[in-house]
Amino acid sequence: MPMRSVSIYAILLFLSCSFSSMHLCASRNSLVPGKPLSPGNTLVSDDGTFALGFFSPSKSTKKHYYLGIWYNNIPQHTVVWVANRAAPISDLSSAMLALHSSTNLVLSDANGRVLWNSNNSIAISLSPATTVSAEATLENTRNFILLGNVNHTTLWQSFDHPSDTLLPGMKLRISHKMHPIQHLISWNGLQDPSPGVFSYGADPNSILQQFIWNGTRPHCRSPVWTSYVLLGGYMDNHHSTIYMAVHRGADDEVYMSIGMPIDSLSLLIRMEINYSGNVNILSWDSNMSVWTSLYTQPAHKCNEYDYCGPYGYCDNNGTAPTCKCLDGFEPNDDEGWVSGRFSQGCRQKMALRCGGHGFLTLPHMKVPDHFILLRNRSFD
Ligand SMILES: *[C@@H]1O[C@H](CO)[C@@H](O)[C@H](O)[C@H]1NC(C)=O
Ligand SMILES: *[C@@H]1O[C@H](CO)[C@@H](O)[C@H](O)[C@H]1NC(C)=O
Ligand SMILES: *[C@@H]1O[C@H](CO)[C@@H](O)[C@H](O)[C@H]1NC(C)=O
Ligand SMILES: *[C@@H]1O[C@H](CO)[C@@H](O)[C@H](O)[C@H]1NC(C)=O
Ligand SMILES: *[C@@H]1O[C@H](CO)[C@@H](O)[C@H](O)[C@H]1NC(C)=O
Ligand SMILES: *[C@@H]1O[C@H](CO)[C@@H](O)[C@H](O)[C@H]1NC(C)=O
Ligand SMILES: *[C@@H]1O[C@H](CO)[C@@H](O)[C@H](O)[C@H]1NC(C)=O
Repeated sequence: MPMRSVSIYAILLFLSCSFSSMHLCASRNSLVPGKPLSPGNTLVSDDGTFALGFFSPSKSTKKHYYLGIWYNNIPQHTVVWVANRAAPISDLSSAMLALHSSTNLVLSDANGRVLWNSNNSIAISLSPATTVSAEATLENTRNFILLGNVNHTTLWQSFDHPSDTLLPGMKLRISHKMHPIQHLISWNGLQDPSPGVFSYGADPNSILQQFIWNGTRPHCRSPVWTSYVLLGGYMDNHHSTIYMAVHRGADDEVYMSIGMPIDSLSLLIRMEINYSGNVNILSWDSNMSVWTSLYTQPAHKCNEYDYCGPYGYCDNNGTAPTCKCLDGFEPNDDEGWVSGRFSQGCRQKMALRCGGHGFLTLPHMKVPDHFILLRNRSFD
């Protein structure tokens, strides 16, 4: 299906490129009916970059196990997708991931209890035994995709069900007529992949901004895209540029993605929301064997939602971010204001009266939330 790919928003980031060597593995990369995946075994993508299997996030107490996808060829265990986030496996002995006819991908434990399934309504035929009717493959992109053998229909794919991570090639839906907006949802802790309180995604009221939420409260708001369509203008020929873009896809779908103008699978990058509520774009530094953050939100207190309260503004020009009142306003809570509690905001010094009051231009400010977009108007 041809896609109109129109970028209307982009953030440019620069980094130096590093190329890690590729491992070629003999492991299989797909799951077929009758050959379930059991603990100790993994599916490995063709190029060796990603592995799918069972893992425990805890190094000390190995009590909880999960089925997930991680980078296969870097020394730091970095999980990018988890199937059974809220239903850990406690007895690993006979756990398995298998292809079943009715629900497709099924993760079950020793007692045959179903911990997770791909919940696909399309039944696949598993007989006669000689023909493979469906196959789930871990692709080089880290997409775990279940294809039916009739017309190679995609029955299910992990890319449609993001955990806390967005990888190049993935789409995070920010608007669609029929389907809901997608979110990245943080882990609950270092050793706990269950859905945490922080989530990241588009403002349901405007595709022009994204939010990080702390539960249902806004925690951080992105800058507002205030200009018109940018058509690939952000691309340079330097392959170390990383972009974040908003695209218009088929069926009026609008989605967000991260990537590099030149596809380089050897440069590992990912966007993640961590359990402290930060969204980071990280790249793997193979020299230092660490993930380096190239972009982070919120980067400082001024990026936190409503940090300075009503009629306050955040000044990040000095050594530390601080709140100030707009001209003509004073703090509501003087004591709080001097001790760094700004949430009460500011109030007007004098009541408004006719005449003598006007509008003030405030340069370098972010467009406030709940803005109304007036299209195609001149400044006047
Ligand atoms: C890694 O080290 C090599 C050799 O010192 C250097 O050329 C390259 O730029 C370094 N890569 C990164 C990502 O720092
Ligand atoms: C499976 O899908 C049905 C209908 O789409 C939904 O009601 C149900 O909650 C889903 N179950 C799981 C385990 O996701
Ligand atoms: C497979 O594709 C052919 C040709 O496009 C179509 O006629 C047929 O109905 C498809 N089969 C299924 C099961 O979708
Ligand atoms: C998230 O919300 C909780 C409850 O409202 C609050 O205690 C916590 O400080 C918030 N976290 C951040 C990082 O703002
Ligand atoms: C989350 O990201 C922020 C910003 O990069 C970082 O300071 C913090 O340590 C991270 N938290 C965790 C739990 O990794
Ligand atoms: C930030 O500080 C610089 C130098 O002190 C000054 O020129 C500039 O006007 C300040 N910007 C704002 C927005 O206050
Ligand atoms: C925008 O305004 C210009 C000039 O007034 C006009 O020529 C143009 O047709 C307008 N475009 C739309 C989409 O309304």
